[in-house]
Amino acid sequence: MKVVSSWNPKGGQGKSLFTINLAAAATQLGLKALVICQDQQGTAMLYHKAGNLPFDVINEIPKERPDVDIVFIDHQASDWEVPKSKFILMPLKPARDQYATYIDAYKRAEASGKTILTVVTDGSAHRADEKATTEALQKKGAYVVPSSGVFSRAAGQYRTIFDEQLNKAYKIGQRRAEMQQILARILMKEGE
Ligand SMILES: Nc1ncnc2c1ncn2[C@@H]1O[C@H](COP(=O)(O)OP(=O)(O)OP(=O)(O)O)[C@@H](O)[C@H]1O
Ligand SMILES: [Mg+2]
Repeated sequence: MKVVSSWNPKGGQGKSLFTINLAAAATQLGLKALVICQDQQGTAMLYHKAGNLPFDVINEIPKERPDVDIVFIDHQASDWEVPKSKFILMPLKPARDQYATYIDAYKRAEASGKTILTVVTDGSAHRADEKATTEALQKKGAYVVPSSGVFSRAAGQYRTIFDEQLNKAYKIGQRRAEMQQILARILMKEGE
C-alpha cells in the first residue's frame, strides 16, 4: 500500500485539488484509492458529501490498515509537522509570496529523508518572476500543471476532472493526462 501526503503549510496551494484528482486518476487506473482528510475545513469531506466521488473519504487515520492500494492524505494549511509517510506531494503556486513557505517546508521534509514530488500549479505565463520560478523548479524535477478553468469548473460541482460530466470541458484530455503522469511518477517512486 502506497501512502501519499499532500503537504504545504501555505494555504490555497492545490493540496486538496491534487488529493482528490489523483485519487480519481488512481481509480481510473483500476487501483483502490482512499482519501484521508486531515483538514478542519474538510475540503475533501465536502466533495465526499456531495456524492460524486468514485472512492471513499474519511476524516481520521484508521486504526487498522485499510484494504486499498493507495492512500492520499490531505493536510491542512499551517500544518508544519513533516508528514509521517515516506512520500510527500508538495503542490505550490509560483508567486513569490507563496514560494518562501514551500522552500522552508521542502527543506524540513528533505532533512527528514522524505521522497518529495513538487507540483507547480496555477502560474501566470505573463509574469516573469513566476515563469522563472516555475522553470527553475521544473529543472529540479518538479511537474508543472498550467492554470486552467477546468479545475474551478469541476470544483464548483464537487467533481473530479475525471467525472464524465466534465468530458466536454476545454482541454480536459490534457488535464487528465497530466494527472495520470503525476500519478505514474508517484507509483514509480520508492517507499510508502
Ligand atoms: N492549475 C490550476 N488552475 C486553476 N486553479 C487552480 C489550479 N491549481 C489550483 N487551483 C485553485 O486554487 C485554489 C486552492 O486550491 P486547494 O483548495 O486545492 O488548495 P489547498 O492547498 O488545499 O488549500 P488549503 O490550504 O486552504 O486547504 C482552488 O480554488 C483551486 O481550484
Ligand atoms: Mg485543502
